Amino acid sequence: MKEMMLRKFAEVFGDTEGVKAYFAPGRVNLIGEHTDYNGGHVFPCALTIGTYAAARKRQDNRLRFYSVNFEELGVIESSLEDLKPYKEADWTNYPKGVIWAFAQKGMEVPGGMDLLLYGNIPNGSGLSSSASVEVLTGFILRDMFGFPVDNEELALIGQFSENRFNGVNCGIMDQFAIAMGKAGHAIFLDTSNLSYEYAPVRLEDAKIVIACSNKKRGLGDSKYNERRQECEKALRDLQRIVDIKSLGELSEEEFETLEGVISDPVAIRRARHAVYENRRAVKAVEALKENRIEFFGKLMNNSHISLRDDYEVTGVELDTLVEEAWKVDGVIGSRMTGAGFGGCTVSIVKDKAIDTFIEQVGAAYEKKIGYKADFYVVEIGGGPTVL
Ligand code: GLA
Repeated sequence: MKEMMLRKFAEVFGDTEGVKAYFAPGRVNLIGEHTDYNGGHVFPCALTIGTYAAARKRQDNRLRFYSVNFEELGVIESSLEDLKPYKEADWTNYPKGVIWAFAQKGMEVPGGMDLLLYGNIPNGSGLSSSASVEVLTGFILRDMFGFPVDNEELALIGQFSENRFNGVNCGIMDQFAIAMGKAGHAIFLDTSNLSYEYAPVRLEDAKIVIACSNKKRGLGDSKYNERRQECEKALRDLQRIVDIKSLGELSEEEFETLEGVISDPVAIRRARHAVYENRRAVKAVEALKENRIEFFGKLMNNSHISLRDDYEVTGVELDTLVEEAWKVDGVIGSRMTGAGFGGCTVSIVKDKAIDTFIEQVGAAYEKKIGYKADFYVVEIGGGPTVL
């Protein structure tokens, strides 16, 4: 891949003098959905698919961007003086946002760069292609200019840029999973204090299969920010009678006792999901450690039901993929992953059932939805690297 990136760089920017190649992964979340902005737990892992870059410093302040995924846009030019939030709505808002965020954090980027990207994560699929670009940009800036930031800070800078430059009020899960990825392991992260633990994912005779609905989802114009506000509303009502900072502090029993204080019935359902999903993530990690994979799968299924009925972020595409998956013998668990409203599902499928799974779920999906889903048998990869 490195050679391909360098060749493409030379084609677009003239030569490869001083160019380095880099990679940052995408991520899939196994369980703990819509809990990261509620002070709960998440359990994502980095993938071996992701975003590749070829980059070099410039002597002036110009920024030149090129994406192999959006060749029709050609070279997009900007400069360090021209980094204003919300300016244009193309993919360069992600790297620009990160350059801007470094400056906001007191690390002014001293010179321009030429940056060429290629991603093999399906765009807008819910596997965090944008967070991958953000972490990758931060990783490149650190490598180029020697900024004193560790990978955890790269994740926080990525999230800051997404929140403040791109206007999406996302939590920390995606950037953290990408910046801190470890091959063969998922990351059990407590988003209330960023403490984390790596848990080996040993599935023995099964694999992680991602099904992409091919329904495009723009996080910004989705109902993501609205869900977040609904949870905040529920929290404010609860705080009138109990001293908590986030929904993630409540057990299921505590929530059942207290929920009557939440005035809006919709907010009750949103909060119920946040509380139960957080507990499910904790239980799922325990189950995985004890090799109780069947129970892990059950928790995944319950996660989907809660996201469908209480949180209402699934939609007919994701529901079809998951409900068809549940019918297949050898499927241990299946649920939507990421923000929802389109994007992907994640399933744990026994090796011997994978072909049937892809065939059956694929056919049923196309019949009902009218277009095809794509399937990926994935591996858990590491964090960002120089190639
Ligand atoms: C998106 C956000 C994450 C997280 C998930 C839902 O991927 O970027 O922060 O909230 O949705 O779990």
